[in-house]
Amino acid sequence: MNSQSNRVLIRNGIIITPENIFRGDILVVGETIARVAAAIDDAEARVIDASGFHILPGLIDAHVHLRDPGATHKEDFASGTRAALAGGVTTVLDMPNNPQPTTTREALDEKRSIAQEKAACDCAFFVGATQGNADECGNVGAVGVKLYLGATTGDLLVTDFDSIYRHFAAQHGLPIVVHAEDNEALQFFASASRHSAKRPPLAASLAVARALALAEATGRQLRIAHLSTARELALVKAAKARGLNVSCEVTPQHLFLSTEDEERLGAFGIVNPPLRSPDDVRALWENLADCDMVATDHAPHTIEEKRSSKPPSGMPGLETMLPLLLTAASEKRLSLQDIARLTARNPARVFRFARKGEIAVGYDADLTLVKLDQEYTLQKPWQTKCNWSPFEGRRVRGKIASVFLRGQVVIANGEILVRAGYGKEVGVA
Ligand code: NCD
Ligand code: ZN
Repeated sequence: MNSQSNRVLIRNGIIITPENIFRGDILVVGETIARVAAAIDDAEARVIDASGFHILPGLIDAHVHLRDPGATHKEDFASGTRAALAGGVTTVLDMPNNPQPTTTREALDEKRSIAQEKAACDCAFFVGATQGNADECGNVGAVGVKLYLGATTGDLLVTDFDSIYRHFAAQHGLPIVVHAEDNEALQFFASASRHSAKRPPLAASLAVARALALAEATGRQLRIAHLSTARELALVKAAKARGLNVSCEVTPQHLFLSTEDEERLGAFGIVNPPLRSPDDVRALWENLADCDMVATDHAPHTIEEKRSSKPPSGMPGLETMLPLLLTAASEKRLSLQDIARLTARNPARVFRFARKGEIAVGYDADLTLVKLDQEYTLQKPWQTKCNWSPFEGRRVRGKIASVFLRGQVVIANGEILVRAGYGKEVGVA
């Protein structure tokens, strides 16, 4: 074995792709997957025995709030990307609702340089839509435009038709990702007592219908963030059938929690969109084939903030998404291939990441190795700075063992080995 070699042979793991599950070897040269086959011999490669492990493509989380700059007491690029890797996530797409929102070239460049210094996993960035920046959004180096149609954490919100239409009709090819809750409906229901009643399914379906109609009129690629109800899914499904370039994400909180958890979780269960009825949760599970991706909407707030008289909305999710999905796979609620499709291939395709999301020759060697039969309890300590989880105390089956990011072992036996700054910005094809 040549210790200087930049060749690594991951031997005898069970490789999961959206099409297939098969026992095989993966040869990594430098940062890239060079070969995938049933049996590979390579005299120069350092061999890693993956017997007994399942290998997923490194997860891509297309919806995270890393809070940096501006709210680094909740999270920053260092802690948030470590939480990502601990959760098997090798690429994160960071949202723009910072206290000073990421809505200009300068703001995005500032975020980019912070990420260069601190990020442990790969990153890409959204630009936030404002009333005035439709023409600028294509030139800031973002992978997508985030448009808030309803008020949530932060000040980003666009509600007038004029500005919304300008964003859909803008002369750039970036997808628009909408936070689809209708703001007038949110205001109308604001006096309800439960959080889920303040932001009812009607608010979501109104905004989804509006965004779909605009995408249809302008030809804009659209992604619905955190879709959470049966009615929204029916609208998206019909739009896809008409040929619209639309995709949707669902979150772990809308798959694994419901309004039945609202009382138990109290402020820690407050999230936008809110937890939904068991009927809506069932509809998401029954129609997972029509969902394009699972993304966390990782939105950390401190325990003190959550315990305050005005608790903010949002919950962390990076470290718990994959164990929850693996547990669901062990219960046959979805397949391991579904996980590869929903958390790697589809997000890479929607955002046109040419080297991400596949265990295949020429792709970045981003790999998440898991022990499927290992049962454990989700619990502290967490990597996320907020240091809590709505899933704390849950028994899960399926544990993340090691993670490769561009050929480097960044997690081994559950331990984080990577240095801050190893993470790179992901380029668009
Ligand atoms: C998010 C946050 O805190 O940044 N909160 C949330 O409840 N999901 C904002 C958002 O995505 O709505
Ligand atoms: Zn969000």
